[in-house]
Amino acid sequence: MLTNLTPVLTKEKIAHIVAELARDISNDYQGRQLVLIGVLKGAFIFLSDLVRHLTIPVEIDFVRASSYAEQSCSSGQVMLTKPVEIDIEGKNVLIVEDIIDTGLTIVSLIEYLKALKPAGIKVCVFIDKHERRKVLFDADYVGYSTDRGFLVGYGLDYAEKYRHLPGIFEVEPTASEDMP
Ligand code: IMP
Ligand code: MG
Repeated sequence: MLTNLTPVLTKEKIAHIVAELARDISNDYQGRQLVLIGVLKGAFIFLSDLVRHLTIPVEIDFVRASSYAEQSCSSGQVMLTKPVEIDIEGKNVLIVEDIIDTGLTIVSLIEYLKALKPAGIKVCVFIDKHERRKVLFDADYVGYSTDRGFLVGYGLDYAEKYRHLPGIFEVEPTASEDMP
């Protein structure tokens, strides 16, 4: 069992970051039709906090992209297990993601969404993690940047655990554990 969690972001710090992102998004999309697409499961808390700070009307949908199964290292395979259900043709899309690591998930999601002919696609990510990036990708809105570390809490899981934590923590493996 994992026991060592090092604090990275408090819930107060997270609330501040989310409010700032929402202010920027509200300003940028003023008077335009915006669809937020949350990436399940990890982004469910971030998206629900973000929308409550927006001052513009939005539509909300979710996709589910699965690349990690029950492990913490990327297989490189991205499966779309829940498609978009609202019509995004001609609308501005903002993908809301918990974390970008290798970048493989977000790049394949963008390819999928492009085929549905939105007016434009941008990406809002809570955590941009650089060290393991495999494709060139820069998000349009970034909450917090870091180089490395396996993070949990605020929607992020390690083998489906810790999503409920209000803060973000780095998981530190104990001697017997196999980490990415
Ligand atoms: P990517 O395709 O490697 O960019 O991976 C993106 C997905 O991997 C995220 O949506 C998360 O589900 C998962 N992931 C990557 N790094 C972490 C982490 O530090 N903690 C928890 N999940 C992570
Ligand atoms: Mg995710």
